[in-house]
Amino acid sequence: MLAATENRVAAAVARLGAENAFQVLARARALEAQGRRVVHMEIGEPDFDTPEHIKQAAVEALYAGYTHYTPSAGMADLRATIAEYAGAFRNIEPGYTPENVVISPGAKPVIWNTLCSLLDPGDEFVYFDPAYPAYASAASYLEAKVTAIPLREERGWRMDLDELERCVSDRTKLLVINSPHNPTGGVLLPEDLERIAALAQRHDFLVLADEIYSRNFYTEGVYVSIAALPGMRERTIVVDGFSKAYAMTGWRLGYALMPEALAEVVTLFNNNTFSCVASFVQQAGIAALRGPDAPVREMNATFHKRRDRIVAGLNKIPGLSCTLPEGAFYAFPNVSRITKDDRALARFLLDEAGVACTGGSAFGKAGNGYLRFSYAASIEDIDWALDAIAQALPNFKG
Ligand SMILES: Cc1ncc(COP(=O)(O)O)c(C=O)c1O
Repeated sequence: MLAATENRVAAAVARLGAENAFQVLARARALEAQGRRVVHMEIGEPDFDTPEHIKQAAVEALYAGYTHYTPSAGMADLRATIAEYAGAFRNIEPGYTPENVVISPGAKPVIWNTLCSLLDPGDEFVYFDPAYPAYASAASYLEAKVTAIPLREERGWRMDLDELERCVSDRTKLLVINSPHNPTGGVLLPEDLERIAALAQRHDFLVLADEIYSRNFYTEGVYVSIAALPGMRERTIVVDGFSKAYAMTGWRLGYALMPEALAEVVTLFNNNTFSCVASFVQQAGIAALRGPDAPVREMNATFHKRRDRIVAGLNKIPGLSCTLPEGAFYAFPNVSRITKDDRALARFLLDEAGVACTGGSAFGKAGNGYLRFSYAASIEDIDWALDAIAQALPNFKG
């Protein structure tokens, strides 16, 4: 007789993190199944439908026979399209070639596979807190020495670079940055990126720049990628994908750009894990990048209006205060005057107000005292949620 499976689980599993938003989503769905109205602001996905021309391209690709395995790094035509698009969007000189591109089923797996390609036990890995949970989960699993730089509301959630300077050394192997930032919507300034680039070159470390929200950006002017700064193309891994910009979360399509030699190693991890991404999905990715850009800009303009609405509304609720996020689609209000337990408050708001959001501490210690609202909801739903929160809050005993 076999012992229970739980006794056989590898000890390393204890080092894995998880995305709490998916757990909140499960509870929200259970409430809906009981007939309750819930406004979903827990999960980081655009509520828009995928633009028509992209869906059409996928259907046509299916019927044209794109139903088989592809190379593990991705199809040559998609890699070439991404190299051209991503290099031009970021003003990378010299431009990227297809050999710099690795395709994966979403950005998340390429983060995992890149960290597996780079980190040995004990290697120094620096990131920031609060953060999208995938970086620390992978780095801890790989037994890297993990340092988190706390981000602070009073700095507009930008990393304190004096603190970064104190934390990095010649032993640092990899730094992660994420701008626009999940969960706060903070954006690093060009001068921040210049200083980070100088530190990377002084101490010879690599930078993984998670730029998945580079199209969800509300400040005037062009998006600046650290990879475009002098000397950085060769030491930066740019992570991006289709989920957020093109409302394609469920398609599972993402990519990273990196030096050729590293791309070969990350491809080996692709080969060992998911083999390749569905070929008709890759063809849809070409349509997304080569087709009209207007749908992306329209979705972003809608997010912009929702941002203004939700931030203004949250700031009117007694006890809450919220800074204006400059990118991504998250509002991250401070709730520390109401409670020390943001997760309990998030749970209360779901159960009592029908508003699903995520406790800030799910993104790290420095997120304690905040809530994350993904404003991927209509203006009507946002207004309804703001009213429901304002009415329910006085009954919260936290
Ligand atoms: C900062 C960040 N990076 C990467 C991802 C992964 O996106 P996907 O795997 O859907 O491409 C997300 C998703 O929420 C994210 O917020």
